[in-house]
Parts: sequence; C-alpha cells; structure tokens
Amino acid sequence: MAIFSALDGRRRPLVRMGHPVLRQRAEEVPPSRFGTRALRDLGRDLVRTMHEENGAGLAAPQVAAPLRVFAYQVPAEKGQSTVPPTVLVNPVLTLEGEASELGWEGCLSIPGLRGLVPRHPRLVVRAFDVEGAPVEFAAEGFHARVIQHEFDHLDGVLFLDRMRDMRALYYEDEWEEFALKKDLPIEE
Ligand code: NI
Repeated sequence: MAIFSALDGRRRPLVRMGHPVLRQRAEEVPPSRFGTRALRDLGRDLVRTMHEENGAGLAAPQVAAPLRVFAYQVPAEKGQSTVPPTVLVNPVLTLEGEASELGWEGCLSIPGLRGLVPRHPRLVVRAFDVEGAPVEFAAEGFHARVIQHEFDHLDGVLFLDRMRDMRALYYEDEWEEFALKKDLPIEE
C-alpha cells in the first residue's frame, strides 16, 4: 500500500456543513485515474490537511473534491494498535454486528461540536490505494468507527444524521466539562 507522510502534500481549504458538496454522493475514481499525479496529490493533500487540522480522518468532499477517497489514521491513545496515515479509494464496506456501539465523534466540517454516534463494532473494507492496488482488511472499535464516519462523507451523510439523541450533542468545552468524564448515556 502506498505510504504517506504528514510532511508531504499541501494543505487544502476545508468546506463546512452547508456546502452542497458535503451532501452529494461522491463519484467513483475511474481506474484510468489510478496512479495519476492528480490522485496521488489528492491523497497526499488529504493526509497533510488532516494532520494540520488534528483530525483522525478527512474525506475528499471535505476539501470540495467530490470523489470516493478518504484519508484516516488511528492515533496510539485510542487504546488499540496505531494505524499510520492511510488513503482509501473507492471503498466498499461490509458492516458486521449491530449499529449500536456508541462513541463520541467530531468532524472537521462541523467544527467545535461533539456528538454521541452509534456505529457497527466491526467491518471489512475492500478498496484500492492511489496506485490502484487492491486493499482488504478488517477493522474494529475506533478504527471501524473512523472508517464508517469517513465513508459516510462519500454518500453525503454527516455524523449528526446518525445521532439518535440530540441531547448528546455538545460544544467541545461543555463536552469536556459535562460529558467526557461521565459514563456514556444509556439509550432506550
Ligand atoms: Ni467528518
């Protein structure tokens, strides 16, 4: 799989909720564009921008590129093995288990907010890297959560759409003070 460094690429401006590109279904990358400079640059730029914005993931529509591409990483503090910056193209997810595992999410296109979002606990991803090499792997926990969040961006879905209880939507300061330290609210 193509390796990305946070020091390559350039930072691209982010679009925020309200921009129509975040509500469209993004287009598949045609095989003729695998390995092209434009697709490599998009991958590098997503990783660079994600890093500079301190995000765990960033999808191409968030930089106004309506393509089925996203970058993500899993930092060490998430209590599972680290995943280095990874770029997936044309991903297909096979979701496993119930969409009932609650966890906190934020989004660089909805800055300043945190919400409690139910996700599947495990999944299998089939995708390509920017060179067109097929990639397939299983993910669970936070890793699976980030992939579901970024994949949703490719279908015009934001984490707010997935929330079941808007009382679990916080501004970051209030979230740190009132939500983070407490046990997750019990649903149902
Ligand atoms: Ni997001």
